[in-house]
Amino acid sequence: MNYTIHTPEGTRDRMFAECRNRRQIQNALTALFQTRGFAEISTPEVEFYDLFIQSGNPIPQESMLKIIDRSGKIMVMRPDCTTPIARVAATRLKTVPMPLRLYYNETVFRSGAAHTGGSSEIAQCGVELLGAGDREADLEVISLAVEALKKISPDAGHIELGHAGLFKALTDELEIDAGGAEQLRRLIEGKHFAALEDLLRPYEGKRAYQLLTRLPNLFGGTEVLEEAEALVGPRTELSYLRDLYQVLEQAGYGSFVQFDLGLVHQIDYYTGVVFRGYAQGAGAPVLSGGRYDHLLGAFGRPAPAIGFAIDVDAVAARQSAEKREGRLRIALTKGRLQDKTVQLLERVGLDCTPIKNPGRRLVHALPNYPLDAVLAKAPDVITYVEHGVCDLGVVGKDTILEQGSPFYEVLDLGFGACRFALAVKEGSDFYGTYKTRRIATKYPNVARRFFAEKGMDVEIIKIEGSVELAPILDLADAIVDIVETGATLKENGLVPIEDVAPVSARLVVNTAAMKLKKNEILDFIGKCQRGLEENI
Ligand code: PRP
Repeated sequence: MNYTIHTPEGTRDRMFAECRNRRQIQNALTALFQTRGFAEISTPEVEFYDLFIQSGNPIPQESMLKIIDRSGKIMVMRPDCTTPIARVAATRLKTVPMPLRLYYNETVFRSGAAHTGGSSEIAQCGVELLGAGDREADLEVISLAVEALKKISPDAGHIELGHAGLFKALTDELEIDAGGAEQLRRLIEGKHFAALEDLLRPYEGKRAYQLLTRLPNLFGGTEVLEEAEALVGPRTELSYLRDLYQVLEQAGYGSFVQFDLGLVHQIDYYTGVVFRGYAQGAGAPVLSGGRYDHLLGAFGRPAPAIGFAIDVDAVAARQSAEKREGRLRIALTKGRLQDKTVQLLERVGLDCTPIKNPGRRLVHALPNYPLDAVLAKAPDVITYVEHGVCDLGVVGKDTILEQGSPFYEVLDLGFGACRFALAVKEGSDFYGTYKTRRIATKYPNVARRFFAEKGMDVEIIKIEGSVELAPILDLADAIVDIVETGATLKENGLVPIEDVAPVSARLVVNTAAMKLKKNEILDFIGKCQRGLEENI
């Protein structure tokens, strides 16, 4: 490899118009922040690793880009700006009275997203209001977030509010352990409606159960607060959101503010109102923020704080909203799942003739429903939905488990059912040896997670197909693979010894599309649900 002509993964050169576009967005935002009395702050791009670990920053350590300095200390390219700003507020600025109004226009660095086209360098513009913990402070920062969105997304955009305290209070009532609460959080965050109900079933008698099962659905206008209150009665968090909405409405921001009570990201970090901002044409939220009242205390200057950051590149990459002309776009996994999906859609009256006779065409417009379907390989379905070039997708849980799920997984479609299993040569004693076991698989992430949860250190070998060959040829001690009928294992003298995870087809939705095209997407999900019920 000739390293002189490439840039590292996740980075790229930016040219002319792209630079101009980025700069325009940054200028518009920083001018706005200045007029609101915020002062610019700039912190080093490289910080000590301990800064982020010891202060309780929620960014996982594997997402941080690390460097070892001359003396052997671990440094990181800063993964966010808030933590360094809290450090400055508690040290260099400790004699400056609060509240402090600070803004930044910086690059943050995170590894991991490069293979899916994501960037390791993220240009962020954001604000922090430190030392103010009342509703006035929340109003100030959220209205500034709306003004910022209006600057960068004049066509359409909105902010959604949630409350970190709500989820915490509900899980406390459930008396669920920390592991269970984290599982619950993940399911709510990913809008895994079906799996959430399964996990919560043992708690059916508790009052919090009703609201927790509905939480992923509760996004939209003030009616979601009413529904939540009807389920669990008055709550301080809900009445706080209502009051906040009222003052935002009085200030003229009502039409830009909605709610998502299922906003449960980084729940241990945030302490009050949390919010996300959506801009038409962006495949992911472009703004993220919330109240974090514990961070400054970690630096010895306890004080409440609230802030938000805007992903400048996500804003710059917005596609023009008109391109889709009000139609939804779905990515379907080619092959077996394709036929089953077509059957499901036909059951509720969608004319799928173009998908059934695709020829060499790759995009198919349904004649009697505003939906365009593209046919793709399973991993690509995930990529298209993640990037928002497709609003929806149908893909197997096997691919989701392997590739991750940066989208909402809204329906278990039931078909394509099989399971991941651990299988060995008949008669072999997999667990009865101390040697490091070798596992062959097409799904290295699934296998790695499975053994990590068992606390077992194994060696994983990636195989592209006919994985059963690996133990037969003595390349591996076992395989982790998909088992449907079990015939392949049997014919090759292998036996399953443990189930790893069940698999079936899922309907997935891009996170931003769910918010920006809510009615159309809910209509389509409803159709799929009806199709599934009619099949029972
Ligand atoms: C899958 C899987 C197994 C087989 C299991 O392979 O990897 O080999 O199906 O099905 P069964 O339990 O009904 O026998 P696939 O057909 O996708 O081919 P590949 O192994 O070449 O990828």
